[in-house]
Amino acid sequence: MKLRWLGHSAFELQSDNGLNIIVDPFIQANPACPLKVSDVHPDVVCITHGHADHFGDVIEIAKNNPNLVVIANYEISIHLQKEGINAIGINCGASIKIEDIEIRMLDAKHSSSLDFKIDLPYAGNPGSFLFTFDNNLKVFHAGDTGLFSDMKFVIGEVYKPDIALLPIGNIFTMDPHEASIAAEWINPKFVIPMHYNSFPSIAQDGEQFKKLVKNSETLLPKVMETLEF
Ligand code: NI
Ligand code: MN
Repeated sequence: MKLRWLGHSAFELQSDNGLNIIVDPFIQANPACPLKVSDVHPDVVCITHGHADHFGDVIEIAKNNPNLVVIANYEISIHLQKEGINAIGINCGASIKIEDIEIRMLDAKHSSSLDFKIDLPYAGNPGSFLFTFDNNLKVFHAGDTGLFSDMKFVIGEVYKPDIALLPIGNIFTMDPHEASIAAEWINPKFVIPMHYNSFPSIAQDGEQFKKLVKNSETLLPKVMETLEF
């Protein structure tokens, strides 16, 4: 599996069989992302919640890639279906299998609305995703979240991810200290921080976060760098 950070909470995951998944495709307005929307050609897009820095460019990506499948919560999937997009709605705890990858929606402690729309429509509960690849490698994308105890009892003890992508930016999510506790509770082999340094208000020191994480190896990829697992 190949993993590439596109800045903020946008990640591209590519299975060994070549299935390309983008989580939270915040491309065009993402100051950290050098790509154009027309540069990305995912097979699957997963949306953790409705906020513009996660919902991102999914509508334009779907227009450019007619075979795209979007996985989101039920409410966001209905919105996307009304735009003519092939969206599948799932809900917390449920999973769906796309080719050889199981995609499960899990909890996040946050809020969710379609904040790019003027009347801020309800966009269901925010979520996180657990991706299980066919070699049983498990990648957890936490979405936007605060610390919550089921990171230990559900995500850590039941699902046991190998890699956890955790927000550390503060203001909207956990800060580095809380995220280091999340890392301890989830107890993955590798931790990758996200949702930081894309805007001045979420400036954080990745090296400082690395020092706080005791039981997992913290990886600090540069934006656009590909890691292989
Ligand atoms: Ni958010
Ligand atoms: Mn966010």
